Amino acid sequence: MTQASTTKESGSKDSGLRRAVDHLPASKIREVANAAMGRDDVLAFWFGESDEATPQFIRDAATRSIAEGETFYAHNLGLPELREALSRYLSGLHRPVSADRIAVTSSGVNALMLATQALVGAGDEVVAVVPLWPNLTAQAAILGANVTRVSLKVQGAAWRLDMAALLAAITDRTRLLLINAPNNPTGWTLTRAEQQAILDHCRRTGTWILADEVYERVFFGAEGQCAPSFLDIAEPDDRLMVVQSFSKSFLMTGWRLGWLVAPPTIMDALAKLIEFNTSCAPVFVQRAGLAALAGAADFVPSLIARLKTCRDTLLPQLAALPRVSVAVPEGGMYAFFRVEGEDDSLAFAKQLVREAGLGIAPGIAFGPEAEGWLRWCFASRNPQRLTEGVRRLAGHLAR
Ligand SMILES: Cc1ncc(COP(=O)(O)O)c(C=O)c1O
Repeated sequence: MTQASTTKESGSKDSGLRRAVDHLPASKIREVANAAMGRDDVLAFWFGESDEATPQFIRDAATRSIAEGETFYAHNLGLPELREALSRYLSGLHRPVSADRIAVTSSGVNALMLATQALVGAGDEVVAVVPLWPNLTAQAAILGANVTRVSLKVQGAAWRLDMAALLAAITDRTRLLLINAPNNPTGWTLTRAEQQAILDHCRRTGTWILADEVYERVFFGAEGQCAPSFLDIAEPDDRLMVVQSFSKSFLMTGWRLGWLVAPPTIMDALAKLIEFNTSCAPVFVQRAGLAALAGAADFVPSLIARLKTCRDTLLPQLAALPRVSVAVPEGGMYAFFRVEGEDDSLAFAKQLVREAGLGIAPGIAFGPEAEGWLRWCFASRNPQRLTEGVRRLAGHLAR
């Protein structure tokens, strides 16, 4: 008998995989999307991306790079000119961030995994603020860490951080804090005062902060051009890693390009980790990133204005439906809402696909704290799609 086909005493097949991998939950968003397999009449708002393609000026830069034969390996930490351009871009938004603190990565999720690999191993204690895009906690779990979840709380029409609960959960034994703001799925955003309190506390406990700020530009607050960032308040040698991405603010989800800001002292180690994961981001994709940054001052504000129109189209229409309550998102590109009496979000999301031709993500995909909620991505080239989606939901609720 081969090892792969060994049968456990319980009778279940032993996959031969590590337990942490064997036990990973499958994506519940995919489960809903699979329910629509073979149908082209479903209006889908389940994934976290716009239906609008990457701007032409960014695509052109990649095409030129390929035409010029830039098809070779590059430096582990990214093209020096891209790291310099990122340094200028970030320094325009935050405190100065030098290029030697920036690693170019093959997507935001790759940056998250690199940071997690660098920081935690089997048995380490990790605290995560939830509900949360499941990849962050799954990555820590793959590496064998134990994740303690601290839940945001719904107060009135918004999700709020229970600071006392969070600080109580982060002790001297906590190796890493996972925090994503603006948050996917709730739209909750950290305030500057909350960030400062978290940073001060983590300095005392020696805990690393992994701040997922991929939605920092997708922010609807009055304070300016981006959400409050840990980069505004931290020192370069703080135990802080910040993950960002080209995906959301430049409509580049399919390109797989992101970056990580980390203390300069760990960059050599990060370069080694990148070598053993992906070795480098493709050069023509990095050229697209350079073009995106060169056009950022014009492009990003216009994209955010369009996303705001989408948000302002969807939110009031959803809120006006009977039985629906919706938390107003301060950032991100999701309406997170619940329908009274529909407590099983996966079953309800599948029912909406089957019976209303409407595709939205079930809250349970983001953790048990979000059960009973639904996530609707409002990033669309055409706000009328959102109105048609609401019409389908209203028709279903009226039945
Ligand atoms: C909170 C959060 N972090 C990170 C990512 C990863 O983005 P990407 O891997 O496309 O850069 C996403 C994508 O949906 C996200 O929602």
